[in-house]
Amino acid sequence: MKRLAVFASGRGSNFSSILEQIQSGNIPAKVACVISDNPQPPVFSIASSVGIPTHWINRKQFSGGDEYAGFLLSLLVKYEVDLVILAGFLKLMPAPVVKRFKNAMINIHPALLPNFGGQGYFGMKVHEAVLSSGVKTTGVTVHFVDEHYDTGSIIRQEKVDVRSGDTPESLAHRVLEVEHRIYPWVIKAFCEGRIKHLNGRIEIEDE
Ligand code: GRF
Repeated sequence: MKRLAVFASGRGSNFSSILEQIQSGNIPAKVACVISDNPQPPVFSIASSVGIPTHWINRKQFSGGDEYAGFLLSLLVKYEVDLVILAGFLKLMPAPVVKRFKNAMINIHPALLPNFGGQGYFGMKVHEAVLSSGVKTTGVTVHFVDEHYDTGSIIRQEKVDVRSGDTPESLAHRVLEVEHRIYPWVIKAFCEGRIKHLNGRIEIEDE
């Protein structure tokens, strides 16, 4: 049984979709803790309602980056975390944490990376940029986390068609439906040891 830490700052719809799959027994894992840089995110209420510990981390409370990274690492060690899941966490993960969880920290991005990613591409800004670029296809990317925004190895992508008449909201809605399907799918594969690294590419073995 793998132990997961979820970092989330917002509404937590991806967290809910992951939790559902764990509760139904589809993912062999336990959410050990939920961590946020927001003092009262909706995701904390969801976690608390099922007895999952929550932690607010405020970068400003630490004198420097090393102390901040050390605190995050101590939390992840305390909860014996195997996989770190970023689900709407907007802060860059400190390098020592990325290093300790190399190939064991994942993020979901609401576009087809490497396009429409990087600093500043978050939330509705991603969908606005997709629409104004005129591309006909967008999608969802799940990737391992490295020291930069949205550049780690890609684990899984799925396309979503851009329709004429789409607004950022309508597009975000269809993209989110795909996120809720593929993030639990990747997490299940990780927990079952089916994610393989082959010549710089990531492959997922069938169940
Ligand atoms: C999602 O669109 C995800 O792709 C991005 O942040 C958003 C989080 O949404 N990284 P939610 O809080 O899971 O509903």
